[in-house]
Formats: sequence, structure tokens, C-alpha cells
Amino acid sequence: MSTLDAVLSHVDANLDASLERMKALVRFQSISTDPAYQQECQKTAEHLAKELNDIGIEAAVRPTAGHPMVVGHAKDNENKSGPHVLFYGHYDVQPVDPLGLWETDPFDPQITERHGVQVMTGRGSSDDKGQLLTFMEACRAYHAVRGTLPIAVSILFEGEEESGSPSLVPFLKENKAELSKDLALVCDTTMFGPSSPAITTMLRGLLGEEIVITAANRDLHSGMYGGPAANPIKILANILADLHDDQGRVTIPGFYDGVEELSAEVKAQWDALPFDGAAFLADIGLSLPAGEAGYSVYELVNARPTCEFNGITGGYSGDGFKTVIASKASAKISCRLVGKQEPLKLRAAFRTFVRDRVPNDCSVDFIDHGASPAHSLSPDYPPLQKGAQALKEEWKQEALMMGMGGSIPIVGEFKDILDMDSMLIGFGLDDDNIHSPNEKYNIGSYHKGIRSWVRVLDALSRD
Ligand code: BES
Ligand code: MN
Ligand code: MN
Repeated sequence: MSTLDAVLSHVDANLDASLERMKALVRFQSISTDPAYQQECQKTAEHLAKELNDIGIEAAVRPTAGHPMVVGHAKDNENKSGPHVLFYGHYDVQPVDPLGLWETDPFDPQITERHGVQVMTGRGSSDDKGQLLTFMEACRAYHAVRGTLPIAVSILFEGEEESGSPSLVPFLKENKAELSKDLALVCDTTMFGPSSPAITTMLRGLLGEEIVITAANRDLHSGMYGGPAANPIKILANILADLHDDQGRVTIPGFYDGVEELSAEVKAQWDALPFDGAAFLADIGLSLPAGEAGYSVYELVNARPTCEFNGITGGYSGDGFKTVIASKASAKISCRLVGKQEPLKLRAAFRTFVRDRVPNDCSVDFIDHGASPAHSLSPDYPPLQKGAQALKEEWKQEALMMGMGGSIPIVGEFKDILDMDSMLIGFGLDDDNIHSPNEKYNIGSYHKGIRSWVRVLDALSRD
């Protein structure tokens, strides 16, 4: 039997133990955005470092100003030919609210059947603990069968991806020599469908901003003060309304600088994808595409920038009614970025746009919620071709080169700071409910995901 087949058979024979290890990881309540879970994040990092050391990858928990990173290097990396890869995943998860909508405890993972398929439930089962483990379990199988990996492998696990990666840039800069490898492998994206593998060649960047507008020095009676007193909700609503024109385009000056039209080649590939925009909208109870006029639903999600309002506060929103003029109003806003849009330049342009619209006797404060550039790679890039071939062998279907609307801040920083490209291969599905109640990961995604990485590592070791 070839080594590849032996390792694949080992994966199959040990799936139950792999699933137990997934449960163990999902049980950690590693919610990065909530300071109450800081110790849990620390423990998760320690658990992962120990698991890596067990499979021949020397790893340590590395402190940052926020939650720690886990960095590891396989013991015999020096003796390898082929590319040296850095695998990235994140061990932190999103908050679980609204808890009442969960059918199972988010941190007590269960293997169960949903819509006729076997799944593992739990917060982080898909984003990103199950995904991260597909790679670790592939390494574990090589370690068990051969005692070594086909190529040199280093690991970086982050604990702040879901909270804007505040410690990432300083960490990458401080550890540049150690982390700059030939290629990053990232498992934090989805497939096209349950049996249709994908490599993500375009991923949007993200600019996160919160604005807080303050008018009067306290909340006011809206009869006694209404008229002369500035209303921060009115000011905020006008600013938000100004941010888009009637064609759905963002009006911040310079916003579209660096936005690129799709190359004819990519456009042809995307047009050929079996993607049904109407069905995509119907699934979420909608039928009329919003956003920029003149683009397909697929392009709007995957290749166009946006400016979306994610939350708004101000005044009285409890039961009943209260005649009040608030002192403050706020909004959380995220812009998805594409092409060569520059996040920091856009942050400055956004803030100027807002300041220009705030009256002189009112004030505005800005809170930074992260800034990361978009990612794109030509489908012709040789490692992608090898990855695609390996995926095809596992899934018996052509791997699609896709765009994805979500963001993984590190991918842009890998390029900017470490000058390293990333191959994004993930096994999540649109119906995994990531960030929502009842998150799950298909057992099929997990099992074939592990097998896929076994094949990708093998493929990358060949000329
Ligand atoms: N894994 C997701 C991003 C993703 C989801 C990519 C689906 C492709 C398909 C990631 O964990 C995520 O949620 N990113 C956030 C970034 C933010 C919190 C800084 C996002 O996209 O909103
Ligand atoms: Mn993720
Ligand atoms: Mn996420």
C-alpha cells in the first residue's frame, strides 16, 4: 500500500477518536470578544499546544496584549524538500446569544442527525474549531503512520479572529522571520456545496468603525427642549442615509479607489458556476437584490465593496413610549473591501465624511474595530493547481475557484507583512449557522476534510 493510502486508511479507522478530540475542543468556551472568557481562551491555547506536541509539532502558547497565539513547528522541518507551509486557524468563537434559540448546549457538542445528515453541533464546530482540526488530524495521521510529514509544516493558531485581530499586526511584525514561510494554508472558508470542494481565490477585507454622536449634555424632555436642541439620532440617521446614493453606491470620496473589475477570465469562471441568485435570496426570504445596481448577486457578495450598518443605538427602545431626546446616538458600521482598496485611507476618509456632517456644538467619537485589506490570487498560481487536483481526487468533483464575501483579517496581513500568499481551503457549508444559534459541522466535512489535507500535503511535496 502507498504511504498516501495507508495514511488515508488510518484516518478512516480512527474517525471516532478524531470526533472525540473535536468534542473536547468545542467544549472550551473561547469567546474572544467577551473579557469574562479570557481564562477559557488561555486554556484553549494550552490545550492546542499540548495536542500539537503530542503529534511531533513543537508548539508553545505565545502571549500577546490580548488572547495568546499558539505557534508550532514540526520537529524535523529542516530535512524536508518542497514548500514550507504555515497553517493558520483560529480557536476563538463568536458569542452564543441568543442562547434561547439553541436546541442543544452550545458548549456541549453532540453528534446528531440534521436534515438527514450526520453533524456535530456546538459553537465553533464549523468556525473554526472543526476546520482547524481537519488539518491537525491530517498531521496526526501522518505522524502515526510514518512518524513524519511530507513537507515542512509550521502552525499559527489565533485567539482573536472573531474580535478584529487586534494583536495580529504587532505579533506578525515581531515574529516575521519565524512565521514567513513559502505559503500559508488557511482552513476557515466554505465549500460550494456538500460535495463540491472549493478554493477561495478572492476574499473581502474589512473596515470596522463605531461612531458615537453626542449632542446635549444629558437626556432631555422632548417637549421642553424639542425644537432648539440638536437630536443626535436625527444627525446619525442623516449621516447613515448620506452614505449611499440612489444606485446603491457608497458616497465616501475615494471609496472606489483600488476597486478592480473582474478579469475576463475570472468573470467567465464565475458565470459558469451553478449559482442561482434568485434562490440565494429566496432562501433568506427576499427577492429584490439590494446594493449596487448593475451587478449579479454573486458579484455583489464576492467581488464588490459594501458599507453596511450592523447596529444602532440611541434614545428609548424599551417597551412602551418615552418622550425623550437622547444625549447620545451610535452606530456600528462595517465596510467590506475588495481589490486594492486601502483600509487605513478609507478609515480617514470615512471619519472626515462623518465629521463634516456633525454640527459644531455636537461631537463625534470613533471606535476602531479593525482594518484589513482584501485578498486575491490568480487561479493559475501553481500551489492552487496542486491543491485543486488533490481536492478533486478526494471529492471526485472539480474544485471551484471561488470568491467569498466574508473576511479573514490575517490573509491580507500575511501578504502585506510577511509577503506570503495564502491558499484558502475550507469544508464549511452555508447552512452551518456560523455566528448563529445551532452552529454545526457536517461529519462528512470533517472526515473528508481531514482526508483532503492528507492529499494536499502529499500533492505539495511533489514536483
Ligand atoms: N470564517 C469567517 C469568515 C468566512 C466565513 C469566510 C464564510 C468565508 C466564508 C471568519 O471567522 C469571520 O467570521 N470573519 C469575520 C471577521 C471579523 C469578525 C473581523 C467576518 O467576516 O465578519
Ligand atoms: Mn472563521
Ligand atoms: Mn467567524
